[in-house]
Amino acid sequence: MDVRSLFIEKYGYAPQTMAKSPGRINLIGEHTDYNLGFVLPAAIDKAAYVAIAKREDQLIRLFAKDLGEHHEVEINLLATNPGHWSAYVLGVVDQLLKMGKQLSGFDLVLTCDVPTGAGMSSSAAVECATAFALNELFGFDLGRIDLVRLAQKAENEFVGVKCGIMDMFASVMGKDAQVIQLDCRDLSYQYFPLNLGDYKIVLFDTGVKHSLAGGEYNLRRQQCEQGVAVLKERFPEVNSLRDANLSMLDEQFRSAVSSTVYNRCLYVIEENIRLETGCKLLLQNDIHEFGKQMHGSHKGLSELYEVSCKELDFLVDLSKQEEAIAGARMMGGGFGGCTINLIETSAIDGIYERFSKAYQLAMGKELNMYVTLPSEGSHLIKFD
Ligand code: GLA
Repeated sequence: MDVRSLFIEKYGYAPQTMAKSPGRINLIGEHTDYNLGFVLPAAIDKAAYVAIAKREDQLIRLFAKDLGEHHEVEINLLATNPGHWSAYVLGVVDQLLKMGKQLSGFDLVLTCDVPTGAGMSSSAAVECATAFALNELFGFDLGRIDLVRLAQKAENEFVGVKCGIMDMFASVMGKDAQVIQLDCRDLSYQYFPLNLGDYKIVLFDTGVKHSLAGGEYNLRRQQCEQGVAVLKERFPEVNSLRDANLSMLDEQFRSAVSSTVYNRCLYVIEENIRLETGCKLLLQNDIHEFGKQMHGSHKGLSELYEVSCKELDFLVDLSKQEEAIAGARMMGGGFGGCTINLIETSAIDGIYERFSKAYQLAMGKELNMYVTLPSEGSHLIKFD
């Protein structure tokens, strides 16, 4: 059932506004966004859908269709994170209020086919769909980049995950068949067409639910900040790891920080280099060499940044035995979720069969697969 019909079924009247905002993939450039480096994401063909209508009073009524759960709160009693899905909606309301925007209560229905905890940014999809819909409903006239920043702040301040800007940017700014090379330092970006030829983007879902709120994500961010603080003493121009280069990670630096902080910094600087190399390779349609950069990215994420897990490592190792897979790596925040793979189209089904069996045998878990492609970012949904 579409989100409009769901709204009517739930509340007994028609919604005024509907919006859709997708999840995202990221080809390379992981944990670089909050270090003000580069990322290479795209919006995908799975999304959050929101239908919404104003109320006369101050009540916010939310219904998460997929969970069958309701949540109600008075707009002036938003307080803090209620600790479940509604935080992604209420965090956006909280930001709008902080910006001094005038909102009444509203009724909202949410449905989402981005798998949760799979590293495909279902949370950003919900935040961006909500931001998009509320912006339209109340006529705030905020531009796309304003909505990206607003959704990121909702996640940072209300949900409590100090995430970077990549997920929201990809969700709002995505375009069909294009990836976005985003510079997270100044938000300059360029689209380029993804010509994968015979290859497709395939995600294998470990089924291990990651939770960024778990603390490890924020810890990585702090460790990078520690590295920056030490670098800055000798190199005042370094305000983020984006401003650092490999030669700065010399013996003096190594002896001034823990090996953990050293490894985190090394990973981030190398990942930015891999991304720049990777973009050139993609422009030359050299999928094989690009795949090698993906393997390098995974190795760094696993060994230096330590955000992988045995299930992700297992799947990436398996992928290296398949000739039809050009590259594979974990995607997103880590500690579970999906691997992203570039696989020759004709080999996908066979590989899925082999991987499913091996994964079941080794990890005792079912393996889900999503074949996806770069898709249109946030937009309003019109029904005739
Ligand atoms: C999560 C965060 C992003 C980004 C990735 C890792 O998806 O929300 O901001 O840091 O992890 O690249």
